[in-house]
Amino acid sequence: MATRDSLIQVTDLKKHYKMGTIKALDGVTTTINKGDVMVVIGPSGSGKSTFLRSLNLLEEPTGGSIIFEGVDITKKKYKNAQGKTVKLDIDALRQKMGMVFQHFNLFPHMTILENMVLAPMKVRGMSREEAEKKARALLDRVGLADRADAYPIQLSGGQKQRVAIVRALAMEPEVMLFDEPTSALDPEMVGEVLDVMKELAKEGMTMVCVTHEMGFAREVGNRVLFMADGKLLEEGTPEQIFEHPQNLRLQDFLSKVL
Ligand SMILES: Nc1ncnc2c1ncn2[C@@H]1O[C@H](COP(=O)(O)OP(=O)(O)O)[C@@H](O)[C@H]1O
Ligand SMILES: [Mg+2]
Repeated sequence: MATRDSLIQVTDLKKHYKMGTIKALDGVTTTINKGDVMVVIGPSGSGKSTFLRSLNLLEEPTGGSIIFEGVDITKKKYKNAQGKTVKLDIDALRQKMGMVFQHFNLFPHMTILENMVLAPMKVRGMSREEAEKKARALLDRVGLADRADAYPIQLSGGQKQRVAIVRALAMEPEVMLFDEPTSALDPEMVGEVLDVMKELAKEGMTMVCVTHEMGFAREVGNRVLFMADGKLLEEGTPEQIFEHPQNLRLQDFLSKVL
């Protein structure tokens, strides 16, 4: 595999609760490279969501570091190129890391179009005209151009999740984080959401995906991480992880899910 530029370097990342009695993350070290489609698998409670949410600081890590674009984002302040101490801009950071959750998180009282233009207008200062144009183009990309004026409740789960994905894309993120985006969907809608994710991967989007869709992991992922008990127990290509798993916990996990 060609070497890729690293985008996010995670070192010894920890998230402890209750004085360290709960170790949701217990020293995770890995590098996310530009263009990676990293798939994170593991049993429930293994720290997958905590890992993902730590990357864009929805969780505040209790130890370790996350270097993104040369800055340790786990520190509230850092020294810029001029040597000046500046405050970390969490909003700016989150713009660069789009996140899609299991439960769509669309605003129920707003139309699909309003959901789409809100952040680009508010956070990026786009004009309504520009934001709407962009939103309609993105909706068209996922086959939902004709649903712009509908409300979330009028959409199926699969449609809502496709909107959630393009809503995140409207911010032109550097990386997209997916936390079990298909887990809440009826089975017949899983494919349409995975297809959108596959398209994104093909276009070279950097993605970190927590998922139970092992077919997706094999077919689309270039790296698979297996977590258990807050630790990264094994990492490899889909072939290494699925055909030649080394760790016993991973072997046991795969025997249950495959
Ligand atoms: N706010 C919290 N307080 C205490 N424990 C938590 C909290 N959030 C998560 N945990 C614990 O951290 C562990 C990892 O959780 P999570 O990252 O959600 O796992 P996963 O996404 O792999 O199912 C679990 O044991 C969970 O109970
Ligand atoms: Mg989770």
